[in-house]
Amino acid sequence: MKTRHMFNRISRWYDLLNHLLSAGQDILWRKRAVERLLEEGGEVFLDVATGTADVAFEILRQKSEAKVFGLDPALNMLKVAKEKMLKKGKILFLTAGEGENLPFPDASVDGITIAFGIRNVEDRGRTLSEFHRVLKPKGTLVILEFSKPKGIFGFVYELYFNLILPILGWLISGDREAYSYLPRSVARFPKPSQFAREILKSGFESVLMEPYTFGICYCYKAVKKGA
Ligand SMILES: C[S@@+](CC[C@H](N)C(=O)[O-])C[C@H]1O[C@@H](n2cnc3c(N)ncnc32)[C@H](O)[C@@H]1O
Repeated sequence: MKTRHMFNRISRWYDLLNHLLSAGQDILWRKRAVERLLEEGGEVFLDVATGTADVAFEILRQKSEAKVFGLDPALNMLKVAKEKMLKKGKILFLTAGEGENLPFPDASVDGITIAFGIRNVEDRGRTLSEFHRVLKPKGTLVILEFSKPKGIFGFVYELYFNLILPILGWLISGDREAYSYLPRSVARFPKPSQFAREILKSGFESVLMEPYTFGICYCYKAVKKGA
């Protein structure tokens, strides 16, 4: 299923619902993930599945001299990103496209990010290989993606995530499908250790996995082998 239609429909509500439904945690997760990305330096970055570009703006916030590209197939999400660009007075290079076919030459960027987007691509293996191709040697890939927390917290969280969140998302955005898709797609996504193996299989040298907020989401940092 092409999820870009769904994101086109909810683009106006996307940011508000993100912050509301995660109680503001999503802002913190993006900030920490970008800190991980910038540990390795670099000047040119690509945020895939950029949506309304919160990760891309966070890169600029932490490194104002960076050149940041944002790519997404949902034009309405990019429209919101453009409006935010004007409001903030920041420059991002936004382009329509999919992770499976990156319109960038081999070894052309220092870092790639994808936040809550790898779950949505149709061909994950191909997308990871594209990331590896486009990164320069020693380039860094940072992925943020939801997971399923364990234990008592996990039990309570599952109730919220599977029952309450879809209803709140539906009532506020008016889109039932989009917010029931979220828990369904997270349930289908591989476990963190399994996903880390997929990243290594696409050619990366190492993967660092970090749980955020008791494992609600994970940050994966992978580095491409040096020349
Ligand atoms: C949950 S949003 C994430 C947006 C943003 N990264 C964030 O942190 O809020 C997922 C995004 O993935 C995009 N998407 C869907 N299929 C894609 C694909 N094949 N390649 C790249 N992005 C895709 C959607 O259009 C949507 O904007």
